[in-house]
Amino acid sequence: MPKTNFDFDQLPHRRDTGSIKWDRYPNYSPYWVADMDFASPECVVTAIQKRVDHGVFGYAQPHAGLVESVLGYLERTHDVKVTASDLVHLPGMVPAISLACRAVCSPGDQILICSPVYYPFFNVAADAGAELIDVPHIRDEKTWRFDWVALEQAVTHQTKMMVLCNPQNPLGRVFSQEEIVRLAELCDRHELLLVSDEIHCDLILDPEQHHFSALRLPAELRERLITLMAPSKTYNIAGLGYSFAVIENEQLRQQFNTARGCTLPEINLLAMSAAEAAYRDGEPWRCDLVDYLRRNRDTLAKFFRDKMPDLKIHEHAATYLYWIDCSALNVANPCKFFSEEAGVFLTNGGPFGSRKHVRFNFGCPRAHMLEGLEKMKVAIDQIHSAS
Ligand SMILES: Cc1ncc(COP(=O)(O)O)c(C=O)c1O
Repeated sequence: MPKTNFDFDQLPHRRDTGSIKWDRYPNYSPYWVADMDFASPECVVTAIQKRVDHGVFGYAQPHAGLVESVLGYLERTHDVKVTASDLVHLPGMVPAISLACRAVCSPGDQILICSPVYYPFFNVAADAGAELIDVPHIRDEKTWRFDWVALEQAVTHQTKMMVLCNPQNPLGRVFSQEEIVRLAELCDRHELLLVSDEIHCDLILDPEQHHFSALRLPAELRERLITLMAPSKTYNIAGLGYSFAVIENEQLRQQFNTARGCTLPEINLLAMSAAEAAYRDGEPWRCDLVDYLRRNRDTLAKFFRDKMPDLKIHEHAATYLYWIDCSALNVANPCKFFSEEAGVFLTNGGPFGSRKHVRFNFGCPRAHMLEGLEKMKVAIDQIHSAS
């Protein structure tokens, strides 16, 4: 039974609203950038409206209600008790990852990532003059795993940190407790800072799968840990810009804050009101969202299996972003192919680490998702009828 009366089948009008997703390439139907075609939950919209009604928009700091809401969320959702002083409030996740790089790396140091992965992971090392070391995930019959041997071999004396994406964008993988502990042990053995980007952690689609936050690692493995979270993907408020870091080690926290220098703006005050409301009151909506997304995922997977068998997909457990292997199509640039031949704009896998993949955003009303899939199918059928 739904917990709210929110209508997820309703497609909001987003063209000409200054939306990156809808207005950057206006000639195509957009299934790319990671925001959803749903309005935010009522509690979030009401909180923003209430703040707007105040009419005064001077510089703002994280207010008590926000801090309480974030701490409550961490305890309820992740079974984690931290204090207000462990939190660093930030205007976004990517600036936070870049900050972490600048806090611990000097020019010539190395940063580990595992591709395919959210494309800014490839760029943040450069902000610190560091070198990027990519140890790609490996694929077995069903899913993607860490390449433990290659990871161990990749670490040198110059390696200073690892950036993890859990749940994984674009693979949709939820890493197990065993995997996260093993990774943290590897980082600990080599004295690497572990930066865990958990922005998608509230979008686990299957009830039998559970997110294991790095915050739940044993205390000795949390000494060199920065955990990053945000309500932005879950409650569709990415345009507002708010995230937070949990850094329990005081010295590391200071190092992180010092690296901030003058580079980051103050946090938008509407974003903080929205985040407070989302974490405090958004849970019923989030449950309905996850149910809707799970059905979208199942519909999409069936569509691929039945109607577009050339496109290979794997098990997908989290996020509304599906990673699709287009190798069998034999086209040089699958993203370009689908935009030109189907009028459907997908995320190009190239900047994520694979030019043979595209990423499909199914965070939208099901009818709209199916419209995009049907157009893709027609484009593929044309390849077959031409050969
Ligand atoms: C793994 C991951 N981290 C960070 C971000 C972006 O976060 P922000 O907009 O707060 O910088 C995204 C957006 O898609 C993401 O998928």
